[in-house]
Amino acid sequence: MKNKQKDFLTLKDYSREEILYMIALAAKIKKDKKLYSDLLKSKSIALLFDKHSTRTRLSFEAGIEQLGGNCIYIDASTLQLKRGETVQDSAKVFSGYLDGLVIRTFKQETVEVFAKNSTITVINGLTDLYHPCQILSDLFTIQELGMLDKNLKFTYVGDCNNVSNSLMIGFAKLGIDMTIGCPKVYKPSEDIMEYAMHLAKESESSINITDDPIKAVENADIIYTDVWISMGDEDSEEKTKALTQFQVNSKLAHYAKPDVKIMHCLPAHRGQEITSEVMDGENSIVWQQAENRLYAQKALLVYLYS
Ligand code: CP
Ligand code: NVA
Repeated sequence: MKNKQKDFLTLKDYSREEILYMIALAAKIKKDKKLYSDLLKSKSIALLFDKHSTRTRLSFEAGIEQLGGNCIYIDASTLQLKRGETVQDSAKVFSGYLDGLVIRTFKQETVEVFAKNSTITVINGLTDLYHPCQILSDLFTIQELGMLDKNLKFTYVGDCNNVSNSLMIGFAKLGIDMTIGCPKVYKPSEDIMEYAMHLAKESESSINITDDPIKAVENADIIYTDVWISMGDEDSEEKTKALTQFQVNSKLAHYAKPDVKIMHCLPAHRGQEITSEVMDGENSIVWQQAENRLYAQKALLVYLYS
């Protein structure tokens, strides 16, 4: 498939065909790790990170190197950007030195302004609003299990955040139903919900939201959860209290199918959104999910730079 994209900022900009194409590429790359090993020869891609990261940072660093490229990690706090140089000016300067930039930051607007003012490829490595790299990888993991089809009963439980926002868009693009179980106060924002529901209608799928955790996971094939307090969020006792009944523990998982798969983008707060018993249990696929970030990130780079 010929790439028509410069950037990867949100799954909103990508078609069903493009997402499926990248998932297939990830599978090919996982099978033959030496594939495309010269693709990024003489190319420099920087990671500009404003927040902590283990998986996103390492999978891009290793992935860029394995594709023959040069990776530069930048701690955002050391840049003139933090002393008031504008995003627009920084984007123009970056464009003169680099071939691409992966940004992890707070506002979605920052990655959008970076992309608009640069001539290089900009990839969203997580913002407060979206985490498209994670979801591309998760869709690959679900495909690898042979479960990415119309019959899948996929449930996200917990806090609605960047991960659940991107999951909603990803599933709606692919025309697969999704259920969300969350307290009413922590449901997705109206505009994202409206957008994703519209997409789902177009692809003849649905997004169901319930504040009943048992109803949410009943008969589920996959239960996915994420932290209750995301990076940059205020920790609050009130939030933890409201989310307690949405903890993924063996009692809750019991309402799902017996062979339910458990997903978590990680890092996990064991004992909070998920118990160790479930995370280390035989239905958990979190390590496969984490490993697949490498192949998904490589597939994304191959698609963007081919
Ligand atoms: N899942 C994920 O993005 O992990 P990191 O925060 O470690 O990059
Ligand atoms: N929702 C989490 C995801 C971490 C990968 C956060 O933003 O902290």
